[in-house]
Amino acid sequence: MEQKWWQNQVAYQIWPKSFCDSDGDGIGDIQGIINRLDYLKELGIGILWISPMYCSPLADEGYDISDYYNIDPRFGNLVNFDILLLEARARNIRIIMDLVVNHCSDEHEWFRKACEDPDGAYGKYFYIRNRDGEHLPTNWRSYFGGSVWEPLPGHPDKVYLHYFHKKQPDLNWENPELREEIYRMMNWWMDRGISGFRIDAIMNIRKPEIFHDYPADRDDGLCSLRNALHDQMDVKLYLNEMRDKVFLPHDAFTVGEVFDHDPEALEEFIGSRGCFSSMFDFSGEIFNRSKNGWYEDPAFLTPDQYKECIFSAQLTVKDKGFLSNIIENHDEPRGVSRYLPQTFADVHTPAAKKALAGTYFLLRGIPFIYQGQELGMENVPFSSMEEISDCSTIDQYKVALAAGLSEEEALAAIGPLSRDNARTLFPWDGSENGGFTTGTPWTKPHPAYTDTNAAAQCKDPDSVLNFYKKLSALRHDPEYGSVLCQGEFLPFLEEQSNLIAYYRWNGIRTILVLANFQPECQNVELPEKNYHPILINEGSLHFYDQTLTLLGWQFCVLEVT
Ligand code: GLC
Repeated sequence: MEQKWWQNQVAYQIWPKSFCDSDGDGIGDIQGIINRLDYLKELGIGILWISPMYCSPLADEGYDISDYYNIDPRFGNLVNFDILLLEARARNIRIIMDLVVNHCSDEHEWFRKACEDPDGAYGKYFYIRNRDGEHLPTNWRSYFGGSVWEPLPGHPDKVYLHYFHKKQPDLNWENPELREEIYRMMNWWMDRGISGFRIDAIMNIRKPEIFHDYPADRDDGLCSLRNALHDQMDVKLYLNEMRDKVFLPHDAFTVGEVFDHDPEALEEFIGSRGCFSSMFDFSGEIFNRSKNGWYEDPAFLTPDQYKECIFSAQLTVKDKGFLSNIIENHDEPRGVSRYLPQTFADVHTPAAKKALAGTYFLLRGIPFIYQGQELGMENVPFSSMEEISDCSTIDQYKVALAAGLSEEEALAAIGPLSRDNARTLFPWDGSENGGFTTGTPWTKPHPAYTDTNAAAQCKDPDSVLNFYKKLSALRHDPEYGSVLCQGEFLPFLEEQSNLIAYYRWNGIRTILVLANFQPECQNVELPEKNYHPILINEGSLHFYDQTLTLLGWQFCVLEVT
């Protein structure tokens, strides 16, 4: 596969509302991001993905866009944004925007015009159907609960389709005029100087050719959208159009939020002529998910389950393309809370957090760090639903109650999966509100901020943060960068429980990555005799001939010499 500028980068995701507030209004902003670019530079970041900052009524925290051509005043304005682009470029950091085009906001001008005249040009930008009495066009359940159909404002006889929140009407991608509008807007941002997009919810943009009901799968009489996705028209047709009209002319980096893809079609998604540069590996995030709701989902994975997920993803992709590897994002709980199960004593130690960090970071693909992950931030111990504002968590709480859980049980079940775990304030230091703002923050800080914060970890050479810096540095290392970015992935001792081990190999160098995912020591029988340690999370290594005894939660990267 042809080498591209993005393949050896480390990416970082910012949730702008919670990253850094520069003007004391309690909400993070663009100037706050600019003020922290040196921090990101030191972390070795080359690509910055910022969650939506466009104008939005915030029904879904900015994933409901009312003006694609402007920055929401909460975050700043286009001048601030241009300065951010320049300041980032000066530090060799490229910015990618979130592209939310499956839907817009019901406050977008297009939707307002569609409501004024459903039969006019803008009516065709959406899916508007006549309502047959009480009967809705289909029995599909929205991702955020309830029917996907909502009465069209001003037209009691009509309904519009929304796969997500009712304030997020789906755009009709079958309309070529809409597609041209979207490509124009994307090119406008590319011409402004961004380097690509993280592409939101993109697998939803095409619908089944014929809308019809599927068997209900819960007591609400509705059915999962997976059925409609299964029967949807070929999504790649429009993705390729988007690639040709926007991505290729700009040499953009694009990463798709791709769920439910056909493994056979992998190359069409992320191969050298694929529609995207990369897509996220969500295998750990979706592992063992229940069709009934979050209340039945696992709050954590065992190390062997986690290994199964990441190994199978790596072995499916091989060298067909580059996955984007994550342990968390703005839709997921904190990675350390999910992949370091509290069934182990003392699991949330710096050593264990570093072991998890090294394990996912050195997989083949592009590592993404979600803000605060580099500090080892853990889930929020929610004590009441009042502390949760995410629309999806609120829906899932209702689902849990409807399934018969008590309020306490429902919170205990869904709290560890809430999207709000990751959306808390970034703790910059141990001062009031973690130094996030000089004013009153929009939410309270994570209770652990006095211990877990960037300033303290910058100073501590053994901190999780400084370990992430070492991992980033390895990807840019003149000796090891190439094998770690491009080299093949090969599992090692896959059957050995609580050990996650793999090789990276490029025909010139062989690197062995080993992580002991348990508090007890663990012996590893090595096939070769000579090893050169490149990175260890903590302690020293104990070799006896070809046996390596890893300490509890010990992680190391060895070169086979
Ligand atoms: C994606 C986003 C999520 C959002 C949804 C609807 O899954 O990551 O945060 O709620 O799309 O735009």
